[in-house]
Amino acid sequence: MKTVRNSGKVIQVVTACSLCLLSLATVVKAADTDINAAIEDRRANLKGVSKNIKLLSGMAKGEIDYDADKATAAAAVINENAANLQATDLWPEGSDLSATQHDGNRAKPDIWNDVSAFLAGFAELETASATLSAEAGNGLDALKANLGASGKTCKGCHQDFRGPKP
Ligand code: HEC
Repeated sequence: MKTVRNSGKVIQVVTACSLCLLSLATVVKAADTDINAAIEDRRANLKGVSKNIKLLSGMAKGEIDYDADKATAAAAVINENAANLQATDLWPEGSDLSATQHDGNRAKPDIWNDVSAFLAGFAELETASATLSAEAGNGLDALKANLGASGKTCKGCHQDFRGPKP
């Protein structure tokens, strides 16, 4: 009789505990999902920047035919994405390259020593690409003259804040 009561208690405790573990797991999973979404969102914005910078530098080098409308549109995407990338939501704590739940994340932990100093790099790109948007449609020479200011922001930031390819 005693044994039966005891084992009943044990079962109750075990049940309660597995329930609490279950809800803990759900909370952790939700946090992972948010972090993954933030990483994916910022990387999509960065890839958009890269794709359009490549198009513009292809035009500047004469590898792609210059087209005023396409050049203006490409610069506008860079400008818009540079603005998007300044949202702190896209750079939550815990989303550095050790966030193993996301393949391909290259964000160095140093970013979180001073997030606003890091984000200032995207503000620089936003300013440079605003001028680029205004000028890219004014002929190949205007594009060439204004592309460098946007292009040089990439390297400066990647040196400090982007880790190696995983
Ligand atoms: C303010 C800092 C900063 C600036 C400016 C910046 N990047 Fe990056 N970039 C990063 C970081 C950090 C990552 C890694 C993000 C991640 O993996 O979550 C990254 C990732 C990328 C990626 C994703 C591919 C990969 O796996 O690394 C591309 C493409 C890219 N950047 C291109 C560019 C280009 C082109 C420019 C300039 C026009 C630029 N970036 C400007 C910080 C910057």
